[in-house]
Amino acid sequence: MTPTSERVLRSRRSCLAVPGSSPKMIDKARGLPADQVFLDLEDACAPLAKPAARGTIVAALNEGGWGDRIRVVRVNDWTTQWTYRDVVEVVEGAGPNLDAIMLPKVQTADQVVALDLLMTQVEKTMGYEVGRIGIEAQIENALGLVNVDAIAAASPRVETIIFGPADFMASINMKSLVVGEQPPGYDVGDAYHYILMRILMAARAYGKQAIDGPYLQIRDVEGFTRVAGRSAALGFDGKWCLHPGQIDACNEVYAPRQEDYEHAELILDAYAHFTSAAGGARGAVMLGDEMIDEASRKMALVISAKGRAAGMTRTQTFTPPD
Ligand code: GLV
Ligand code: MG
Repeated sequence: MTPTSERVLRSRRSCLAVPGSSPKMIDKARGLPADQVFLDLEDACAPLAKPAARGTIVAALNEGGWGDRIRVVRVNDWTTQWTYRDVVEVVEGAGPNLDAIMLPKVQTADQVVALDLLMTQVEKTMGYEVGRIGIEAQIENALGLVNVDAIAAASPRVETIIFGPADFMASINMKSLVVGEQPPGYDVGDAYHYILMRILMAARAYGKQAIDGPYLQIRDVEGFTRVAGRSAALGFDGKWCLHPGQIDACNEVYAPRQEDYEHAELILDAYAHFTSAAGGARGAVMLGDEMIDEASRKMALVISAKGRAAGMTRTQTFTPPD
């Protein structure tokens, strides 16, 4: 199996949800600028439509035309009767054209292990590379959040930990129906801060990506941008988009600002120069008016990696002093 450290986690600023039962919407998604597209067999797919949707999804993945987009399928959660058939049909039918399986409502590490084992059997049976297809774990209730560290560590296949706010709000009895907005009566901070931070810590502790969930007022792009800006500021890697109109805003919010990206690249170049023998083998040095050291390099690496993953380019270069 591919160890976590060797998994290359690609840019997931925007993760577009597409109902697996709609060939028309699946077709449209091929031309949209989302980093990831996930074809849904769970809540966007009616129970009676699920069996046929599996075939629709397999055909759409095998047809191709997805470019660099990360191709994901959300299966149903383990408390339903659908999960095993979802996984077997989709992985058997489209394994080589699939990047990850998203598992919703994950509550324990065992549920991730069970998915990993099933995927491994299908891969072996079909002669596919074992362990290549990743797992995205959605945290959507209190038990999932309490176990999130173990869930993140449960399998090297886990690539992302995703916040599912709608189900989460329902499961904890939050007194609000407006996903992402503060519950009326809570006027002392951000009611989602603890949840987001808890997910982010688990993701970072185990080298995974942290992904924010949907914003349901799909026509309110300003509201989407405001809510996305909060998790992006904390360090989240991306967010779900439920509508094509949210994608551009999402890509912008989760990419570094151009000036921060340029600055990060300058810090990396300057630090590499000054710590080298030719640059004086120094530890803490001045870059303009700013003192930079090893911690600055680590911060710059994060911004630079996000910028490069988002395809950003730099215009400034570092010139060593004479
Ligand atoms: C997504 O699945 C959510 O419940 O918010
Ligand atoms: Mg959900």
